[in-house]
Amino acid sequence: MEGPIVKYSMVILATARWAYRPRGRPDPEACYPVRPERQRLSLASLLLLECRASWFGVNFMSLDARPRGFAARVNDIEPFRVVEVLERATQLSAAGVDVVHMAAGEPDFATAAPIIEAGRAALARGETQYSQAAGIPQLREALSQHYAERYGLEVPPARIMVTPGASGALLLIAALLMNPGDGMLMTDPGYPCNRHFMRLVEGQGQLVPVGAASRYQLSGALVDAHWQPNTIGAMVASPANPTGTALSRAELTALSAAVRARGGHLLVDEIYHGLCYDFDAPSVLEVDPDAFVINSFSKYFGMTGWRLGWLVAPEAAVAEMEKMAQNFFISMSTMAQHAALAGFEPQTLEILEERRAIFRQRRDFLLPAVQSLGFDVPCQPEGAFYIYADASRFTQDSQAFCLSLLEQHGVALTPGLDFGHARANEHLRFSYTTGMDRLEAAVERLSRVLS
Ligand SMILES: Cc1ncc(COP(=O)(O)O)c(C=O)c1O
Repeated sequence: MEGPIVKYSMVILATARWAYRPRGRPDPEACYPVRPERQRLSLASLLLLECRASWFGVNFMSLDARPRGFAARVNDIEPFRVVEVLERATQLSAAGVDVVHMAAGEPDFATAAPIIEAGRAALARGETQYSQAAGIPQLREALSQHYAERYGLEVPPARIMVTPGASGALLLIAALLMNPGDGMLMTDPGYPCNRHFMRLVEGQGQLVPVGAASRYQLSGALVDAHWQPNTIGAMVASPANPTGTALSRAELTALSAAVRARGGHLLVDEIYHGLCYDFDAPSVLEVDPDAFVINSFSKYFGMTGWRLGWLVAPEAAVAEMEKMAQNFFISMSTMAQHAALAGFEPQTLEILEERRAIFRQRRDFLLPAVQSLGFDVPCQPEGAFYIYADASRFTQDSQAFCLSLLEQHGVALTPGLDFGHARANEHLRFSYTTGMDRLEAAVERLSRVLS
């Protein structure tokens, strides 16, 4: 009896494979969502097969018959609106239009020569294979030294982990802390990827609308007011993207106290440290050694494309994140890590400090210029390379406004919509990541259109 059963099972399996064979080009609609009439048809044919198959004890229903689609989280991850502006700006530039590019979130300077040289030397030495998941020991040591020299802090290498950009650090911290349904308080406006990292691990970014009253930052009082039963922590960036405001030691202390009082975690993104123009932003580690710090070689060190960052965390947390990094990344670019070591050399720091002075000069020109054009900038942007301007005098649709400024006047800016929901349609971000002559040209063009 076994022979025929196997034979018939194989026939039925072959029929099922034929019925479900891919037809022609993949139809994105057939994949997600499946059209209801197709779904009914597929289910009917599957039922028929199941009846026949059950004579032979074969249960097709145990095969996964659900329509194949994308996970629900995909719908919650929003695209960068600025991409539309950036793509159009690139097209216009390629067509010979003179565009002032003030939309990008990265330094316009190439990586400093000593870092590039160190990268070349690493390649020449054959540093082309995987390295440790937490980073090469020399770089963790150099970062520990950096905390000692810059902040007077003792941060052992064991508490530091090198990551693929600040983005990698954000992912690891989200994966470490968030259970499904947990919430993390964060500013609106703020860096949009933060809430998306939380979503990725089935948590949620709990957006707190912030404005001039708290200098676009979270405060102890805002933490108290917005904490919910599922909140497990609060996250800030200092200096922040898109507002450039930085937190003082006293403000960090108050924030830390509020979060601690609720038994939560404090996450501080210090990626724009080193690019502060009015005072040196303190590290949260000066007031709260248990806080999670996110940082990167992207901005101050001018290495956006090398994809290298780091995090500082309690030692036990690093051990757990190392386990995840082994799985998720195996290692960072080994060559990039050797290159980054040169970032701490005195000759490199001299170049980076010159660049910091150039950014300050740009900010000091652009801030009053933007204000005199009629934009409201209620708080001094103390760092990063952004000015977040209230454009409500001119528009209630920041995306359309940015596109029209680009099309008609050749000025590329970022719409506020990229940074959250709180009055986002009335705001724009100016990046001063282009030379003074270009900033002057942009202000001149805008003054013609807005006056
Ligand atoms: C506040 C903030 N955090 C993190 C990142 C991600 O940086 P990285 O290039 O190091 O991944 C950015 C990038 O713009 C940022 O502005």
